[in-house]
Formats: sequence, C-alpha cells, structure tokens
Amino acid sequence: MIRNIISEREKDLPFFTIGKLLKIAAEDKKIISLGPGEPDFTSPPNILRAAKKALTNKETHYSPIAGRTDLRKAISKKLKKDNGVDVTEDEIIVTNGSTEALLLTLMSIVDPGDAVMVPNPGFLAYIPMVEILSGVPLSVGLEEKNNFQLTTENLKDAYIQKKTKSIIINTPSNPLGVVFKKKTLEEIAEFAVENKITILSDEAYEKMVYDDEKHISIGSLNGMEDYVVTLQSFSKTYAMPGFRVGYAAGPKKIIDAQKKLHLFTSLTAGTVSQLAALEALNGPQKPVEKMVKEYDRRRKMIVQRLNEINGFECVKPNGAFYAFPNIRTFKKKSYNFAEWLLENAKVACVPGTEFGKYGEGFIRMSYATAYDKIEKAMDRIEKATKKLK
Ligand SMILES: Cc1ncc(COP(=O)(O)O)c(C=O)c1O
Repeated sequence: MIRNIISEREKDLPFFTIGKLLKIAAEDKKIISLGPGEPDFTSPPNILRAAKKALTNKETHYSPIAGRTDLRKAISKKLKKDNGVDVTEDEIIVTNGSTEALLLTLMSIVDPGDAVMVPNPGFLAYIPMVEILSGVPLSVGLEEKNNFQLTTENLKDAYIQKKTKSIIINTPSNPLGVVFKKKTLEEIAEFAVENKITILSDEAYEKMVYDDEKHISIGSLNGMEDYVVTLQSFSKTYAMPGFRVGYAAGPKKIIDAQKKLHLFTSLTAGTVSQLAALEALNGPQKPVEKMVKEYDRRRKMIVQRLNEINGFECVKPNGAFYAFPNIRTFKKKSYNFAEWLLENAKVACVPGTEFGKYGEGFIRMSYATAYDKIEKAMDRIEKATKKLK
C-alpha cells in the first residue's frame, strides 16, 4: 500500500459544491438549471465548418508553442481594433482556454509567498490557482453598496506592501455582471503603477455588455503596456467552450516566460481548435451580436422578475450573463438557500460563496438558458419563496 499518495497541495484545494448541485440538476429532468457558466448556444455554423475543414485537410499536427502564426496575427489585429491594445504576434500566446492563459501568467510571475490580489466574489479558479503556486491570495472585496465597482478603499484594504506582486481583475465579471467604469480602471491602473504590480485583466466576457455600457481594456490606458497582461477567451464570445481556446497578450518578457512553461505543461492548444478560432475572428460577427441581443432580452426579464419577487434584491448587471441577487432577507446561508431552491422550486442556482466568502448572502443565476425556461424558473421561485416569508 503506497502511503500519502496524494499531495498536500491537492488536499488543500477547496471542494466546490457547484458540481454536486449541478449533478442533481442534470439527473432530475424536472429541474430547471440556472447554473451553467457557458453559453447555451452552439458555436456558429461557419466555425463548425472551419473545424470540419481542418479535419478534412488532416490538420492533426502540433502547432508552434505560442500558437499558429496566422491566429496570433489575427489576434494582434483584433486587439488593436476592438480593444486598443497594441501588441505584436510575438507578444501573444494561444492557450487551452483562458484558464490556461491565467495559470501560465501566474506561473510566470508568482514565487512561493508572493501575494496576488483577487476579486471577491470572483471567478472560482482565481484563489485555487494562486494557492497551487504556493502564493498568497488577497481578497479584494467587491461591495453591493458600490454596485460592485472596485474602489481605491477596496484595493488599499487588501494590499500588503512587501508581498503583493499582482492583481487579477475581471470585467465584465463572473459572477457579478458588473462592468468596470473608466474611472474604476484608471484608479486600478494608478494603483498598479504606484506599487509596481502586474495586472491580469480577465476579459472573457468582453462582448457581453448591455445598455450604454462599454467594455474598456485596462491595457489600452495610457502608459499601461508594461503593466497589463490581457486574457481573452473564445469560449463565451463565440459559444465555443469545448474547443478550448484562449490567449494572453502583454509584455514580451511575461509572454516569453509563458512560452517556456507551455513546453512543459500542455505544449500547445489544439490545431483544429485554433483553426476554428481563426475563423471566429475572420468570419462574420453577426452571430455574436445575435447571441448578445438574446442574452440582453433574458437579462432584462430576469432582473425585473427577481426584483419583483419579495425578498430578492438584484443590482442590474451590465455585462456577462449572470444575475447575482442578494438573498439575505430569506435568513438562510447561500448554500442552504440554493439547496432549498433546488428541493422546493426545482431550480438550480449557484451559492454566492462558491465565488469567495464575500459571496455569502447572494446566489448566482445564469441567463445563458432559454428565455421560457428562465420565465418558468422565476414563476416557481416566486411561488416557493412565498412559503419562506
Ligand atoms: C471570468 C472567467 N474567466 C475565465 C474563464 C475560463 O474560460 P475558458 O477557459 O473557457 O476560456 C471563465 C469560465 O467560466 C470565466 O468565467
């Protein structure tokens, strides 16, 4: 019998309840799931055709470690045009989803004991990734009273002078749906320059912005070229999460370090997937607009319905595809409330605490689910929660 087979590193990682709840939701056909963090749409047909063509053309070989040159050139063009981020193809690395881009970036800059500021509530991979690298995650609280905009006070509260090496920001945000204003980004930029720290800007939901909101890449702000690694994904924008393509773009030193690490981790992103991603950038953008329009329709409905149901309070999200209502008046912990909804309303949601301790008192509801299903879920929740009040 081999003793202590599993590493302490692995044992220390948190267990997420999201898996358990979503498993129950998947097994019981009566349950409507507002759990998923991925588009309910299939990838647009031109992207599927490109993938098929890649297979027909026997594109079954490795690509360069940094990613295909044609794709990196297209990304460089896109970043300049859409984001105002000026990088050459040598300052870009294509990865297996932006998850890998995030990990490679952290691996490139975090030594054991270094601290990384992470948004809390925030995407659930941030804290474990820092911990895997024996770094110290510092939670930057995002508060409902500020409509979840990050403030200088939030930054100062989390910052530890000698240790902090980096900060992760995510706009539009999972799970909050907040889109950072230019003023917020300028404050973060100023803070990063003053303290000489690197910003990891996770922009996976960049195209999902609503009303008059605009997505701004912090890497486009004056003088930020040396401070920002921009992380992007094809998963949400083009509804292609299963293809697993994302990328990091930023200072050459950091991207070169990632290329070196890529050789020892996953080597490259899949060639067929990269060719599908190339088509996504070069092909028509109408399908993206259509999907965003539909998310917007659902967003308006879900937020209105939630705020009409006694007990919920929902800040209107301006981005991504999540609502993050406050459920404190129900006097249940987030996890217990999500479990209660699953049993009593047959609706699956994700407890806010999955996204960090500041998520207590909230639940996440994804509207990457068909409109009529969301409507039905709201009816059920309205009926069920009457019993709780
Ligand atoms: C904020 C955020 N960043 C990154 C990712 C990872 O996406 P992918 O690895 O598919 O690019 C997700 C996925 O849910 C996310 O919500």
